[in-house]
Amino acid sequence: MPATVVVGAQWGDEGKGKIANLLAQGADVVVRYQGGNNAGHTIVIGEETFALSLIPAGVIYPNVTPVIGNGCVIDPKVLLAEMKMLADRGIDPSKLKVSSNAHVIMPYHRKLDSLRERYLGRQQIGTTKRGIGPAYLDKYARVGIRIQDLYDPKIFRDKLEAVVKETNKVLTKVYNQLAFDASEIAEEYLGYATRLEPHVDDTALLVWRAIRDGQNVIFEGAQGVLLDIDHGTYPFVTSSNPTSGGALTGVGIGPADIDRVLGLTKAYVSRVGTGPFPTELFDEVGEAMVRVGGEYGTVTGRRRRCGWLDAVALRYAVRVGGITELALMKLDVLSEFPTLRIATGYLSEGVEYPEFPRQQRVLYNCDPIYEDLKGWTTDITGVRDWADLPGDARTYVERIEELAGVPITMISVGPQRSATFPKGTG
Ligand code: GDP
Ligand code: IMO
Ligand code: MG
Repeated sequence: MPATVVVGAQWGDEGKGKIANLLAQGADVVVRYQGGNNAGHTIVIGEETFALSLIPAGVIYPNVTPVIGNGCVIDPKVLLAEMKMLADRGIDPSKLKVSSNAHVIMPYHRKLDSLRERYLGRQQIGTTKRGIGPAYLDKYARVGIRIQDLYDPKIFRDKLEAVVKETNKVLTKVYNQLAFDASEIAEEYLGYATRLEPHVDDTALLVWRAIRDGQNVIFEGAQGVLLDIDHGTYPFVTSSNPTSGGALTGVGIGPADIDRVLGLTKAYVSRVGTGPFPTELFDEVGEAMVRVGGEYGTVTGRRRRCGWLDAVALRYAVRVGGITELALMKLDVLSEFPTLRIATGYLSEGVEYPEFPRQQRVLYNCDPIYEDLKGWTTDITGVRDWADLPGDARTYVERIEELAGVPITMISVGPQRSATFPKGTG
């Protein structure tokens, strides 16, 4: 498996941290290709739990080079704090490489993120307020600051002054807020730059060389396909491309460099933030999913909305996400339900939708068409072999595989790295 992309096939929090960490055991390079510290990837090793927001899960292993690619947006203060947290806990982050082309999250991005949400009122996206959207906005408006700018103080100050001047107009005149001081920001960020300098690199070249040399490279996606800026439930999405396509531009490689795209889906669905969610449950079953699954955001602590598995959305995520195989996560969370439901279509105004509708309105007013399956109602957290899964659990997994249209190759029944086994047959 020289080059594997790990992609969330839902609205994030599928268990990418766990799987990226698992795959990183045999890897040489693990790369984040999009997003920023809106991500929260949990890794559980023995008694220890790590929540990483920017540094790829592979950092845990001394043999791995962790990389933050050009497609990411980086809050340097958060990155330095994460490196310190790891060092304090005995993990050496010194091999970390950061793309010189990645964009920098500035204090005014964080401010604008909160302000825009407040002004959207009931239309708000429910962002993580980490400045992600405004940082990508500046990138595409071509007024963003890149990591490399920090090492050219004159250019950095000039660019910063221009963008702060314009941003201050918006902040003071539109939002009635205090202005930022460009020279104060410059001092603060030049300080971060000195500390980050040993890590800044041409990561596109580094990854390309690793692939050329036959090394094992893992691309660790953040968020999920349904949060993709192009293919997700816009505007209730993030501002980058979590799909496998995003891995190409977000690192600087070509499609032929990728061998395998592993999509991750929970055995049910969760979503944090606003936006449509056809199979969302508002009853005690949804409550039980939150409780048993520990469905509270890693980054913001918000309660995640939960519901039955949506095979329509999953099939769509497999298609637009370029997913070639799936890992089925958190199967153990469904153990207490005597009946399990899977949405196989949507019904809206008398029309049946077997595929993800092109008109998003349908997602808000549809009734899912459910197929009911028998639950297994026994604890499966100790299972480590396909043959030891109860028959009803195997039937559930096989039905998902059939509906998704790609093989399920991995099953996860607990947060521990060891609570994972390959799907067998029969
Ligand atoms: P990510 O953002 O995709 O990395 O996922 P998060 O870390 O935000 O959320 C996944 C949560 O589920 C974490 O708390 C994991 O420790 C936990 N987890 C991962 N796999 C499993 C599993 O198979 N079963 C259970 N019960 N928990 C899991
Ligand atoms: P991981 O990598 C779940 C959601 C936010 C909000 C929307 C936009 O841990 O799976 P943003 O701050 O990105 O502008 O917020 O996207 N969101 C996530 N939801 N998991 C994540 O990351 C998320 N990152 C962003 O809740 O709805
Ligand atoms: Mg998460």
